[in-house]
Amino acid sequence: MNSKKIIIAIDGHSSCGKSTFAKAIAAKLGYIFIDTGAMYRAVTLYALENGAICSGMVDEESVVQMLSDINIDFRFNPQRGASDIYVNGDLVEGKIRTIEVSNCVSAVSSIAEVRSKLVAMQQHMGIKRGVVMDGRDIGTVVFPDAELKIYMTADPMVRAERRFKELTAKGDKVTIEEIYENVVSRDKADMSRAISPLRKADDAIVLDNSHMSVEEQMAWFMERYEEALMK
Ligand code: DC
Repeated sequence: MNSKKIIIAIDGHSSCGKSTFAKAIAAKLGYIFIDTGAMYRAVTLYALENGAICSGMVDEESVVQMLSDINIDFRFNPQRGASDIYVNGDLVEGKIRTIEVSNCVSAVSSIAEVRSKLVAMQQHMGIKRGVVMDGRDIGTVVFPDAELKIYMTADPMVRAERRFKELTAKGDKVTIEEIYENVVSRDKADMSRAISPLRKADDAIVLDNSHMSVEEQMAWFMERYEEALMK
């Protein structure tokens, strides 16, 4: 087995299974998995709970002022086989994936100061390599030198159906229409924002998983991984 440790950057549209895929890869390779979307969600949750977002309107100045009060860390949870996210010592993993957070996270993640704080943390986490990081700007901004970059996408309705199943299984009262709308509007916001918009890095490989099982995606990945190690 090759002991070389690399950085695997996984970017792409929302709700196309990036985190599930990245988590499975990390478990298989013994790498650290970092869900950077969870970090933007954690800042959004903090802003919601501390009055910087009212009726869906984000007060950017307040969010920026709050940044120095927000300490994010990940702690490995053996039951999940992945790390849980904590804000100022509080476990927030279960609170960051609500539709309320999803509806405000694009606005929060387009604030320059939020991005520079989180990008610096992400770069630090990858300093020893051996990480699988998923997000929107990992291959373009956080680790432009990543040895393997994957750009994931899937049909928007397929993505909405997947997220709908996930949320209703947890007991959330949501409709497929509102989820679809959120998926499409987040794609648009993520791709059109001024700072670090979502885009495919020139050297990223596209994975459209609309009609692929997790096992098929893993087999596809292992071939790309072996190729990346040879380079
Ligand atoms: O991966 P996710 O859907 O949980 O991400 C939530 C939001 O965070 C997404 O709409 C855009 C933002 N995000 C970002 O701007 N940059 C990243 N590296 C990761 C997420």
